[in-house]
Amino acid sequence: MRAKLIIGNWKMNGSRAANAELLNGIVAGLDGAEAACAVCVPAPYLQQCQDALSGTAVAWGAQDVSMHECGPYTGEVCAAMLAEFACRYVIVGHSERRAYHRETSELVAKKALAVLAEGMTPIVCVGETLAQRDAGETMQVVGEMLGAVLEKLDPAALEKLVVAYEPVWAIGTGKNATPETAQEVHAHLRAQIRVRNAQAAQVVPILYGGSMKPDNAGALLAQPDIDGGLIGGAALKAGDFLGIIKAA
Ligand code: PGA
Repeated sequence: MRAKLIIGNWKMNGSRAANAELLNGIVAGLDGAEAACAVCVPAPYLQQCQDALSGTAVAWGAQDVSMHECGPYTGEVCAAMLAEFACRYVIVGHSERRAYHRETSELVAKKALAVLAEGMTPIVCVGETLAQRDAGETMQVVGEMLGAVLEKLDPAALEKLVVAYEPVWAIGTGKNATPETAQEVHAHLRAQIRVRNAQAAQVVPILYGGSMKPDNAGALLAQPDIDGGLIGGAALKAGDFLGIIKAA
C-alpha cells in the first residue's frame, strides 16, 4: 500500500510575509495527519522554507533545475545548489515549462538525472492538452513523455521517482479530470513503469494535478492508482491545502 503524498506547487507566487503566514498555518494545522506533504517553492524562498520547516512533517523542494552542473549558465540553478537547501523534491517538466520555455522530454529527462545525482527526488510531470485528448492521443502523449525519462534511467533507479499526471486542460481552470478519467491514465503510466521494473511500479507514487481542491480530492484519491496530488492554486491557502491533506 502506497502512502498518500500531497505536494504544493506554489508556482511564481509568494513573498516573505505571505510565505511565513502560509507555512506557519500549514505546520500548525497538520495535527498528526497521515499523508506525507511538501511544498515546492520559488528558489529564493528555499532558505525560508528550510528555516521554517526543518523538524516538521512538511518537506520542501524546488520547481525546476538546470540540466547542467555548476558553471557558465547565467540565470540557471543547478541541482547541487538545491541540495544545499535540503530540498527533498524537484519538479521537472511541468507543462508551464514545456509550453513557455519549450522544454522537451529529452531535456526533462536530463533534469531528472541531475536531480537524482544529488540525492533528491524528481517529480516528473506529464500531461496532454485538450486538443490531444480530443484527438484520442492522451496515452500516446503521456507515454512518450514518461518514456523519455524511463529510457535514460537505470531500471534500479526508477523506484526513486515521483510521477505527476497533470492534464494541461485541468491546470488552473477549475475543471479537474474525473476520478475515472485520471485513474485510467494513472494505470497506464504504472503499467509503463512495470515493463521496466515491476518493484518500482509498486512503489512509485503517481500524483494527480489539475484543479485538485478539498471538495474533489477525496474522490480522486480513492482511486487505486492515484497516490496523491500536485496542487497549484489550492496550495496557496493553508486551509485548502490542509483540507486536501486531510482528505488523503
Ligand atoms: P492547479 O495547478 O492546482 O492550480 O490546477 C496544478 C499544477 O499546475 O501543478
